[in-house]
Amino acid sequence: MTVLVTGGSGFVGLNLVEALLKRGESVVSCDSQPLPANAVARWAGLPGSLHSELLDVREGTALTQLVREIRPDRIIHAAAVSPAEKDELVMAQACVSVNIAGTVNLLDAAVAGHVGRVVIVSSAAVYGAAGFLQPELQETTPPQPASVYAASKFAAERIALRYRKAGLDVTAARLGSVFGPWEQAAPTRGTPSPMWQIMQLARSGAPVRLPRPGCRDWLYVRDAADAMAAVLYHSERLPEVVNIAAGAQFSVADFCGQLAVEGLDLTWTIDPVAPNVDFHGSADRAPLSIGHLTPIAGDFPRHDLRSAVRDYLVWAADESASGPLEHPRRGS
Ligand SMILES: NC(=O)c1ccc[n+]([C@@H]2O[C@H](COP(=O)([O-])OP(=O)(O)OC[C@H]3O[C@@H](n4cnc5c(N)ncnc54)[C@H](O)[C@@H]3O)[C@@H](O)[C@H]2O)c1
Repeated sequence: MTVLVTGGSGFVGLNLVEALLKRGESVVSCDSQPLPANAVARWAGLPGSLHSELLDVREGTALTQLVREIRPDRIIHAAAVSPAEKDELVMAQACVSVNIAGTVNLLDAAVAGHVGRVVIVSSAAVYGAAGFLQPELQETTPPQPASVYAASKFAAERIALRYRKAGLDVTAARLGSVFGPWEQAAPTRGTPSPMWQIMQLARSGAPVRLPRPGCRDWLYVRDAADAMAAVLYHSERLPEVVNIAAGAQFSVADFCGQLAVEGLDLTWTIDPVAPNVDFHGSADRAPLSIGHLTPIAGDFPRHDLRSAVRDYLVWAADESASGPLEHPRRGS
């Protein structure tokens, strides 16, 4: 099967590409940034085949041409900008042009190319204020997006569902909060996970100060990629929206504790006065229901906290042995 992954050079996209290559798929990654050289090197032994295209999803004609050329059976659309709230007005135009108009370009390209299924990677951010009022967020919970980013993701979702009404097989995968391999600092992404921040502090030998325990349905990104692959492959008609989340909660403090159990030299405390880990908000949002996902993804998630931390540390050790995660410059 040929699968086009937009945003394939980003955190979630790299995990999607990797998961699909492991399944032996023919993967085309399309992104405005090149694939990191070390990722390409690490995937050399995987059974699938990989081709990458430098393309901006704001260029609708080029996107349609690409889809016509490669004739993907499936598309998963992860390209987006996700600014931190402090930068959201500076990035408002980009949220509209990339997250909304870029998605419309992708949907038009999918229709023109008669693509069998499209999965739009949306975000739990669309629930917004509802995430602090409800005990659990179901796909039917009325979203109350607050930030420009959340509003742009919700608009993209709603537009995608109009294409569904017109006959395109398209589903919005509302992704919760993920952590794990291939996360990196990027100018278009203002909200690195607390886990990534902690790994950076641990690498530099600095103590970790958390603002609070930080309980949430954190999802290991490799499980997120598997879940989205399951949505891509599912043989039956999909719901309009599927939450992609862990179905269980642990805290960032638990994550720190598990790192220490696994032997990482880490000092950590809860310090609400002078924290050095940003949780991107002062309260913990409610967990996402995985009632729609479970029949699609089966035995899910594969990792609990302990196995996720172990897997992440193995990946990180290999990564530091092969050097820092770097995007090559365009054209190199
Ligand atoms: N990381 C999370 O916790 C999380 C949670 C919920 C939803 N999401 C969603 O997952 C998707 C991927 O997010 P991520 O965390 O991997 O972010 P990321 O910034 O790491 O990846 C996004 C990728 O999109 C690419 N991109 C940006 N603008 C583009 C353009 N105009 N044309 C082509 N490519 C472009 C970037 O170069 C980057 O490689 C997004 O749709 C995001 O909304 C992420």
